Amino acid sequence: MVLSVCVGSSCHLKGSYDVIEAFKRLIEKHGLGDKVELRACFCLGRCSDGVAVKADNSYILNVNGANAEEKFENEILPLVS
Ligand code: FES
Repeated sequence: MVLSVCVGSSCHLKGSYDVIEAFKRLIEKHGLGDKVELRACFCLGRCSDGVAVKADNSYILNVNGANAEEKFENEILPLVS
């Protein structure tokens, strides 16, 4: 799976960096290093719902450093095959 975290200006201000750091840690915690490719990407067109994340073709919205773990475990993990 390609997991893209928006680092466009709006999402950047809302904490993309914290989300990327959290996802890095969670990918390691769940041993998904060979299944999930973490990338930074430019604006996903969902700025008002940022930080915006795309997991393959699914959007995960309103992610931040505080809820990144919950979003990862509830919304992203089920999509990893
Ligand atoms: S800046 Fe992230 S969706 Fe637009």
